[in-house]
Amino acid sequence: MTPQRPQYFPAEVDIPASMPFTPGFGSTPPCLVGRDDLIRTVCALLAGDPAGEGSTNVLLAPRGLGKTVLLNEVEDAARSERGWLVVSVSGTDGDPIAETHKEVCRAMDDWTQAHGDPARRRLASVSIGAAGLSAGVSYSEEPQPRRTTYGDDLRRDLSELTSAAASTGARVLLTMDEMHAIPLAQARQLGSYIQHIAKRERRALVFLGAALPYITETLLADRKSTFLQRLAIHRADPLSAADARRGLKEPIETHGGRIDDEALELATAAVGGHPYMLQLVGDKMWRAAAGAAEPITVVHAQDAAADAKESLGDHLFAPTWHGLSENDKRFLSALVALSATHATPRVAAVCERAGIGNSSASAYRRRLLLSGLVGPGGRGRLRLAHPAIAPWLKQAIATGSISVPATPQSGT
Ligand SMILES: Nc1ncnc2c1ncn2[C@@H]1O[C@H](COP(=O)(O)OP(=O)(O)OP(=O)(O)O)[C@@H](O)[C@H]1O
Ligand SMILES: [Mg+2]
Repeated sequence: MTPQRPQYFPAEVDIPASMPFTPGFGSTPPCLVGRDDLIRTVCALLAGDPAGEGSTNVLLAPRGLGKTVLLNEVEDAARSERGWLVVSVSGTDGDPIAETHKEVCRAMDDWTQAHGDPARRRLASVSIGAAGLSAGVSYSEEPQPRRTTYGDDLRRDLSELTSAAASTGARVLLTMDEMHAIPLAQARQLGSYIQHIAKRERRALVFLGAALPYITETLLADRKSTFLQRLAIHRADPLSAADARRGLKEPIETHGGRIDDEALELATAAVGGHPYMLQLVGDKMWRAAAGAAEPITVVHAQDAAADAKESLGDHLFAPTWHGLSENDKRFLSALVALSATHATPRVAAVCERAGIGNSSASAYRRRLLLSGLVGPGGRGRLRLAHPAIAPWLKQAIATGSISVPATPQSGT
C-alpha cells in the first residue's frame, strides 16, 4: 500500500473580495479620511503653469501617516480626471536615474501602444499616399531597441514622452515616493532634467514627491539645486478625532457591520490620529467580531487596541528606533521616562536625565522631531508623538528586543 502523502496547505477558505480595512503600507483604504483638502490643493498646483512655481511639490509626513496613499490618489486623479501620463518611481528602488529612465521607457511603450509612434505615424501616412496601401498594412510596428545610456538619455526620453503626451493634450506627472532616500547627487541631476524640460523646453512636466520630514534638513537644504530649494512643501498632519471616527465607522457599516458608540470612542482614542493605527484597530475589531456577524463591542475594541499597539510597535516604531544614533536613543528613552509624570517634559530635563550635554539639546530635539517619534510640546518642551510609543518602548526593553545604550563615562 502506498503511504498517504501528507497535506501541507491548509483547507481552502473563501477570501472575501473586499475588506473594510487595509492594514498594510501603501494600501489605499476603502474609506480615505481627512485628506480631501490636501489632495485638492496639490492637484490645483499641478494643474497650474508647468513652468511656474507650484508645479513641483513634495508631501512630508512621518511613517504611516499616508504619504504613499496620497501619492496614489493624486496619480489616479491625474489619470482618470485629466488623462495625464503618470511615471512613478520610489527612491528605495535602486539607482533613481536608471529606475526613472526605465519607467519613462515603459510609459512611452504604453503610450505608443495606445496612440502609435508619433514619428513613425508620420512616415506611415506618407507611404499610404505614395503606394496606396491601407493604413493597417503600412502601420505595422516593430519593437524599438530601448536606449539605456545613463543620464542624458533620461532627459531626452522624458522630454519626448512629454511632447508625445502633449499631442493628446495631456501632461506627464512624475512621482517619487521615499524621496528622502535618494543620494544628493542624483536628486540634483533629476531636478536639473525636470527644470530643463519644464522651464527651458516649456513642456508639460509636473512633479510630486513624498518623503519623511527630515528631508528638510538634507536634500531640501541643498544650496546648489534650485529645483530642491523651490519644491512646494505640503505636510500631512495626524487625523482629527472626527475623521478617525468616520474612518472607523463608515467602512464597518458599508460592509454590513455595526459598532457600539462606546466601542467607537475607545477605538478612536486608541488611533490617536494615526492612519496606520486606524487600519490596524479597525481590522482587528472587525475580525474579533467575526466580520458583520456580531456588533463590535467595547470588549472587541479593547482587545483590538491592545493588539494593534503591539503591531504598531513592531512595524513602525522599531524600524525608526533602529535608525537612531546612540545619543538619540538615550534622549528618547529619557523623554519616555519623564513623560510618565508630565506629558510635555522640558528639553533641558531630558538632556540631564539622558546624560547628554545641554549644549547639543537643540540638535537632539530637532533630530527626534524629524524622526516623527516626538512632537513639539510648547516653549522648550517636547511630547511623544503617539500614545503607543511609551508602552512599546518599555515593553521592548523589558522583553530584551531592544536596549538603550549606556551613557558613556566622562573621559572614556
Ligand atoms: N487618510 C487615511 N484614512 C484612512 N487610512 C489611511 C489614510 N492614509 C493612510 N491610511 C492607511 O495608513 C496606512 C499607511 O499608509 P501609507 O503606506 O500611505 O503611509 P506612509 O506615510 O507612506 O508610510 P511610510 O512612510 O512607512 O511609507 C495604510 O494602511 C493606509 O491604508
Ligand atoms: Mg510610504
